[in-house]
Amino acid sequence: MKDIAWSSILSVGVAEIDDDHRLLIALFNELNRAAAAGESAAYLAATLEELINCTVWHFSHEERLMLKHGFPGIEPHKAAHRELIDAAREWQAKLAQTGYAVTEDEIRYLDRWLTEHILTVDQGLGAFLARVA
Ligand SMILES: [Fe+2]
Repeated sequence: MKDIAWSSILSVGVAEIDDDHRLLIALFNELNRAAAAGESAAYLAATLEELINCTVWHFSHEERLMLKHGFPGIEPHKAAHRELIDAAREWQAKLAQTGYAVTEDEIRYLDRWLTEHILTVDQGLGAFLARVA
């Protein structure tokens, strides 16, 4: 599975959100590399935990920006965040049961999980913040 490459299509037009997304993508790429290289279950588990923790932190960051600038779509956006975290935690629990046998399909799932958030949920927020912030 190829790494996610940062490109302008992923930019939401707000530097501090783009910076967070770059970090999340770097962690995804590290997980992808580690899975392909057959790194230990402990390493894969630690990398996934770091990715999920950074995502939780990033969502708090976005939610603070939404409050600061009075983003009208805050409730559905927060609900989307909760859904994404629940799905990631569920996936993490499943992987823990299989000893972190991370397959290509699993990585593809995570790729979609990450890029869909950036490409869909965050574009509206980015467009709003770019106007008012
Ligand atoms: Fe985001």
